[in-house]
This record gives sequence, C-alpha cells and structure tokens, in this order.
Amino acid sequence: MSKFQISQQQQKIIKEIAQLKKEKNAILLAHNYMRPEIFEAADVCGDSFELSKKAMETDAEIIVFAGVHFMAETAKLLNPEKKVLLPSLRAGCFMADMITADRLKIMKQKHPNAGVCLYVNSAASVKAEADICCTSANAVEMVERLPHDEIIFAPDKHLAEYVATKTKKRIIPWSGFCHVHTNFSHEKIVRAKEKYPHAKIMMHPETPGEFLKYADHICGTGGMITFSKKDDAKEYLVGTEEGMVWRLRKEVPEKEFYPLMGSCINMKQITLENIRESLIQEKYDITIDPKIFEKAKRSLTRMMEL
Ligand code: 13P
Ligand code: SF4
Repeated sequence: MSKFQISQQQQKIIKEIAQLKKEKNAILLAHNYMRPEIFEAADVCGDSFELSKKAMETDAEIIVFAGVHFMAETAKLLNPEKKVLLPSLRAGCFMADMITADRLKIMKQKHPNAGVCLYVNSAASVKAEADICCTSANAVEMVERLPHDEIIFAPDKHLAEYVATKTKKRIIPWSGFCHVHTNFSHEKIVRAKEKYPHAKIMMHPETPGEFLKYADHICGTGGMITFSKKDDAKEYLVGTEEGMVWRLRKEVPEKEFYPLMGSCINMKQITLENIRESLIQEKYDITIDPKIFEKAKRSLTRMMEL
C-alpha cells in the first residue's frame, strides 16, 4: 500500500499553521478531496455537509476553508458574524459555474408548480432562488421534504438522475455535471475489476447512472468512510476524486483503497503554503451580496434544520 509520507518542510509549515490558528482563534476545515498533508494541519476533515455543520458549531473567530469557493460561501452564510477565509480564489467548481440565478429563474417560470432542490455545489446567488439545498449525503431526503410533486433538481444532472431512482416525485434535472466524475469509461472499470477482483466498488452519485450500476455502494464522500469502516471487504475501488483515497487510507488504515477517477484541479489549488498565507494576511475574505444573503441563507438553513 502506498503510504503517505510527510516531509520535514511540510511538518514545519503545519507547526506554523497551528501557531497562527492559536494566535488568531482560527479553525481549519478541510474537505475530503484535499492534499493529504492538509489533513495533518486541519481541525476537522469531512464532506460538504459535515463541514457546514462544523462551521455552524464552532466558536472560533476565523474559519479557514480548505475546499472550494461554494463551500466557503456556505460557511459564511451560516456564520455571517465570522471571518471566513478561502486560501485561493482559483478554487472554484466547474459544476457550480454551470448555473446562474437568472437561468434558474427562467426554469422556475417554465415549471411554476415545481419546488427547487439545489445541490450546495452552487453560488450563493443561485441558492437565493432555491426552496431547499442538499448535499450528496442527503439529496433524496431533501427532495422528499419538499411538499411539491415536481422538483427542479440543479445543477448536477447525474445526481438528479440518481435521486429520480429513489423517489416517486417527478425530477426535472438541470444540465450540469462534474468532469471528474464523468470522465470515465466502462473499460476503466473492467480493467480495475480485473486488477483487484476482491475489491468492492464505492461510487459518488455525481457519477453517470451507466457507471453507477457497477457500484456495490453509492454514497457521498463521508458515506465512503462510514461504509468501509463497518463493511466486511478488505479492499475498495474508490469512485470519486482521487484525493479521497488518502482520506480513506488515513481513516481506515487496516484496509486497502485504490482510485478509479482523476483529480479535481480546483480542490488542488489549496496548499499548505497558501493556508499559512491566508492566516497571516487574513485573505481571501469571503463576502456575500447583502441583497441575496437572507434568501440564500434560508434555503441552506432549511437543510441544516432537518
Ligand atoms: P461531498 O459532499 O460528497 O463531499 O461532495 C462534494 C463534491 O464536490 C463532490 O465532487
Ligand atoms: Fe466541483 Fe467536481 Fe471539483 Fe467537486 S470534484 S468541487 S463537483 S469540479
């Protein structure tokens, strides 16, 4: 098994980050797709939902978000009085960029009786147009919670397709997708299964349905940790962003994990160096347009309350 080795230089930066966090009463939240050395510096690692929850609970004055822009915005919406820092403004999300508030308004006009369930992988301005938000960990539950029989599900068409298989409601999908989870082939899976015949397959529901049929377990990134901890297999093929393999190896060291998919260049913009810089200079401070703040917060808190 390839083991992660931390270098002396990385250890030095982790110490500096720890000192800065103490001085500034800051907390570092890291998404499961981060580089493995960042897990060593983080106070909490988790999926989108777990990190949003943590952001709500903390009494730190500063939240440094090792993740992508929509995640830092979510933390800010839930904590308006706190400073939320994103270490690199290049850490966006291609899927989140596939929808705008104006385009969603047009879709809503076309389907006046439909409720809107919005995946958190979206900008705050789009959240302001939704009835409720969801993450990969609770998408089916949130769709069921809305009183409507028809649901516009955006922006991920594959997550929408997956949710549609789990509910009787009519799902009207948006057309977005994540390149990491769609840049995939049947041959890739067949070859991986030949190489690791005893491995179970876990897949993220951002993956197209034609590939999900190979999965032994379909879940978000947090679900992959929970599942592999209690499941009886010893090896797993991990159908999501490749960084998840490092997280699983750290959390479940007695088992083997192999990547099936590639890397998210947005997530990889975050480094130990720019986290340290972010704490020193208190940048980049996430702000949200006051005109949409309350509406965006409402769709998110509706999810958090449940
Ligand atoms: P999770 O909420 O499952 O961590 O997923 C976030 C994400 O961006 C998946 O690509
Ligand atoms: Fe966005 Fe895909 Fe990266 Fe997740 S993996 S942050 S959906 S681009």
